Amino acid sequence: MSRRGFVLAAADIAAATFVRPASSRTSAVNERRIKIAPGQAQLSGPAGPHTPVWTYDGKVPGPTLRLRQGELARITVENGLDEDTTVHWHGIRLPNTMDGVPGLTQPPIRPGESFVYEFTPPDAGTFWYHPHANSLVQLGRGLAGALILEEVEPVAVDRDLLWLLQDWRLAAGGQIAPGFGSAMDAAMSGRVGNVVTVNGTRPAYQNVKAGERLRLRLANASLARIMALRFEGHRPVVVAIDGQPCDPHEPEEGRLLLAPAMRIDVIIDMQGDPGKRYAVIDDYYDGLSYTLTTLAYDNVPPLRAQPFDAPVRLPGNPLPEPDLARAERQEIVLQGGMMGGGKLKGVGGMMGMAMPGMNGTAAWAINGISMTGDGHSGMTPQFTLKRGATCLLTMRNETAWWHPMHIHGFSMSVLSRNGSPVPNRTWQDTVLMAPKDTVECAFVADNPGDWMLHCHVADHQMAGLMTVFRVT
Ligand code: C2O
Ligand code: CU
Ligand code: CU
Repeated sequence: MSRRGFVLAAADIAAATFVRPASSRTSAVNERRIKIAPGQAQLSGPAGPHTPVWTYDGKVPGPTLRLRQGELARITVENGLDEDTTVHWHGIRLPNTMDGVPGLTQPPIRPGESFVYEFTPPDAGTFWYHPHANSLVQLGRGLAGALILEEVEPVAVDRDLLWLLQDWRLAAGGQIAPGFGSAMDAAMSGRVGNVVTVNGTRPAYQNVKAGERLRLRLANASLARIMALRFEGHRPVVVAIDGQPCDPHEPEEGRLLLAPAMRIDVIIDMQGDPGKRYAVIDDYYDGLSYTLTTLAYDNVPPLRAQPFDAPVRLPGNPLPEPDLARAERQEIVLQGGMMGGGKLKGVGGMMGMAMPGMNGTAAWAINGISMTGDGHSGMTPQFTLKRGATCLLTMRNETAWWHPMHIHGFSMSVLSRNGSPVPNRTWQDTVLMAPKDTVECAFVADNPGDWMLHCHVADHQMAGLMTVFRVT
């Protein structure tokens, strides 16, 4: 290299080192290691019984992974269980080979083996991770954690909180109740539990200060429980759903409807009184409302005299805009389940009961095909999309049950519900469908590979409410 060349090169290096901001989108690597292993959790607090669980890094929920939007993440996962597993990065738009579906996108991680996941998350927001092998049991034994993609520019709030919500079906003594995958659960509401934890414990208080502005990230990591959260004395404003920013809006009837796998980010201004307590109530299931947790105000003067007047708006993510005029239409029809339906059936005393005439493994279907279990190899894609095409996907729920329908690899713009345009535009990876609902969504098929589309009620997923589509 000539002397002049050397000087230039050195100058380039200096520029690269000193001029490039710390949030460089090209050079940073976020490295993490996670070990999956059996462990113990005290779900009702330090005085409560020990529950044998399965853990990421010994914890329930697993460690919150905080990564930066647009930076390469490299996460090594080590399987210390006695059975195969994988990790699925729920909601992240990533290369297909990193999606964590055994038999479809990668071989399962065998006991004692490791797998290195590597991807650059394009979107900031609230996401989560969980196994995609033997999903009902592995998720039900506690394997779930939050994955937070931090915005390049921090959002102006006083505190950023996460509530990862898990629903457990516990037997006496705090053991996880047996009977995963009973025919009753499978054909009805799924395995709804009897204890809901916030970040792995209950009852939980959330300490807050008067005048504070919180960003609260809610993530429902339950197998089957749908939640409708009300904040006594407070008015949460929804700023993101499933990690994707939306126009700030107050939720319908003041309740945050949070189905399994969904996330909602809210901004809450703490306008309660110092020293007071306010319940956060889940009243989704009629007659079964309970206090999820309590906002406990520190007995200190308000942080600020005047409340904020403008809501926080999160910066947008780089989502490709669907071209509806030239969209390709696809339809999936959800079928199966018991007749009758309703909000909550098949829980409590009936758990594990045998259902005559039903084998419990193929209770559900999409377009007439039941894809069961998590061994996905051999499934012919339901439909194939050309890379770059807009897909206008109609989902029709012919069943008498609720289904949070989840798409891998994409976020869908929700267009209409039962023929009416939705009041607030949202991008979602999980769309809750009420019985007999028809929902229209659109997305740009910009990510090649074979992708899952399934109900996130784990019993339904395992019993056939699951399919695959292809982008080539
Ligand atoms: Cu969160 Cu296919 O799953
Ligand atoms: Cu997913
Ligand atoms: Cu379902």
